[in-house]
Amino acid sequence: MSPAIGQPIRRIEGRAKVLGTARYAAEYPIRNLAHAVPVLSTVPRGRISAIDTAAAVASPGVLTVLTHLNAPRLPYRQPKEVPATNPKVGDPLRPLRDDVIRFDRQYVAVVVADTLEHAEAAAALVKVTYEPLTGVTSFDRALPNAQLPREGGRTGPYRRGTPDAAFAAAPVKVDQRYVVPTEHHNPMEPHATVAVWNGSQLTLYDKSQWVQNIQQHAALAFGIPYGNVRVMSPFMGGGFGSGLRAWPHIDLAAMAARVVKRPVKLSLSREAMYGTVGYRPETRMRVRLGSTPDGKLTSVMHEAWAQTSTYEEFTENTLGATRLMYDVPNLSTTYRLVPMNVSTPTYMRGPGEVTGMFALETAMDELAVALKMDPVQLRILNEPPKDLSVNLPWSLRTYVDALRDGAKRFDWARRTPEPGSMRDGGLLVGVGVAGSTYPGNRNPASARVRMDPDGTVTVQSAGTDIGPGTYTSMAQVAADAVGVDVSRVRVELGDSRLPYSNAQGGSALFASLSPAVRQAGLELARALVMAAVSDARSPLRGLNPDTLISAGDRVGVKADPTKFVTHAELLKRLRRPLEAHATSAPSGKPTHSIHSFGAHFVELTVDPDVYEIRIRRIVSSFGVGAVINPRTAHSQAVGGIIGGVGMGLLEETRSDPRRGRIMNANFSEYLIPVHADIPVFEAEYLKEFDPIIGPLGGKGVGELPIVGVAAAISNAVYHATGKRIRDLPITIDKLLAD
Ligand code: MOS
Repeated sequence: MSPAIGQPIRRIEGRAKVLGTARYAAEYPIRNLAHAVPVLSTVPRGRISAIDTAAAVASPGVLTVLTHLNAPRLPYRQPKEVPATNPKVGDPLRPLRDDVIRFDRQYVAVVVADTLEHAEAAAALVKVTYEPLTGVTSFDRALPNAQLPREGGRTGPYRRGTPDAAFAAAPVKVDQRYVVPTEHHNPMEPHATVAVWNGSQLTLYDKSQWVQNIQQHAALAFGIPYGNVRVMSPFMGGGFGSGLRAWPHIDLAAMAARVVKRPVKLSLSREAMYGTVGYRPETRMRVRLGSTPDGKLTSVMHEAWAQTSTYEEFTENTLGATRLMYDVPNLSTTYRLVPMNVSTPTYMRGPGEVTGMFALETAMDELAVALKMDPVQLRILNEPPKDLSVNLPWSLRTYVDALRDGAKRFDWARRTPEPGSMRDGGLLVGVGVAGSTYPGNRNPASARVRMDPDGTVTVQSAGTDIGPGTYTSMAQVAADAVGVDVSRVRVELGDSRLPYSNAQGGSALFASLSPAVRQAGLELARALVMAAVSDARSPLRGLNPDTLISAGDRVGVKADPTKFVTHAELLKRLRRPLEAHATSAPSGKPTHSIHSFGAHFVELTVDPDVYEIRIRRIVSSFGVGAVINPRTAHSQAVGGIIGGVGMGLLEETRSDPRRGRIMNANFSEYLIPVHADIPVFEAEYLKEFDPIIGPLGGKGVGELPIVGVAAAISNAVYHATGKRIRDLPITIDKLLAD
């Protein structure tokens, strides 16, 4: 039997998704369901001076209208430990707690009615009068309030060597500023929660990347035991990070359900998705690079100013990649937060790394130009021998391999370096390169693997599959561990009653959960072998278990395939399923720095008259260790690169500078790539194995592919036009103005 790991197996939940039988949060058929529609604030800062709900209450089908004046006061007990996806510093938003408006589109009321239409109609009748206060909604005006994050740690200031002196003395310098704007997650499936109370038991069907986080949050919010809360999120229509936290609409749905004593569904509109489910924070950066005339980096200084809300300090690892990417003895990073009257940002695909690497990898291109050096060569020349930021060896670093592999497949050698020197008819052709990196994170996770009398193997974990193919990869891991064909494996995920798992986030789930699934699978295989040697009627009774193997549909003698007993016979006689449970956790102090690396090569055309940019090709190469499923991994690569194209050319949440309202909270004005924007991507993974990340040798692939894409695009636009656009997205107006 050939191993399932490494095979391009089709997603096992694909059919259910295509047929519509895979249920998303808003799709559970619940009897007697009532519908909640929130009312959103229209000012970014102020107080509610009056709220008139009379017309809404009298509107047909309305069951209740909750505001800060009549909403139940929830206990909101404090967690023992703040979940890793919540800001460590601050006071989370409690919906309908007070009359204070902290940001645009904050919940000010929720209308519950018998139908969605009745709830929407009544919500439009709620009249809110505000006493507006001057909000801090412009980044420029907020900048003087910038401060170091209070949490310290990896977001605190970092320094090695003497970067200022080395920069001052450097014969070749780059000193530039870069901007990544606010960007919103726009998954196809909006956030939704269905809340069902049964006495003091609460069931939540919620769009979540971490069901047990929602379980803990809801238990503490309502002051009930964890065990009273069940959270289901087996399928999602796209995650990207907005499903990592417990957001206030969950509280609203559960609160409303308790008030009306009926199950309540609250499904956010696309507009409301711009209110309180997070976004990538606008981040302004300054990068200074110093180098010798032959391209050896002598100094790197990277500063960032990132927006956060007035009530929480959201931080991300924006400058972590800079500290480890290149071989430079003198380096400093400084990260500051800029509080504004906005809702709290959150993680969005490649959080931190994607922002910092846009600046660093564009600056590296600017340095290559200043040096008149090939930008691939410049990067290879500055390859570090170890992770200088933590002074540890790499578990596996194949950045140079990725650069060389990508350059070869892209035919980088045909590039002529002078901007505007490559043409195709009337179009300018530009090519650009940028690097990528993402940490190989691991957290504790557990799984159960069971074999039923019919021979079916079931894998269970509370971990979710937000789309990358966790159902399929865990089936592959379990199949090989138990020694059965992958077609016999079922996988159950996304239910808080199943064994504990970390979030599907930070690209950490695969490497966290797969060792637990593998271990449980191996223990199940061992249990089958032990049953074969101990069962009274087994032909293998009394044999040394070490001479036997579980493979295919049977336990057999390794040296003599004619001697065997089938799994089905063993289980029939046992009259019960066999199961094993395992937990995996990273052990002790890290001995290695674990990161994935990659490189993107972009070819695009620019119309010299109107500066229209069209992407022609993106060739990417990634080193992530072993790839468990080339098909789903390729899909992650493509999805991430599309996200990078959006970041490079289209995505930007814009606010009215006077009133602080988000102006494009919809799909027609917040632009994301469509099929016509996207050519075929040539994404490949290097054939490699990282023994340090875990027994399967592979790191998660969710985030790496988006990191660096925007820089590679920016570098290609420069190569085509000679114009360097340092604030994303790169749009026609910026090229015309330059
Ligand atoms: Mo990812 S931003 O950790 O879902």
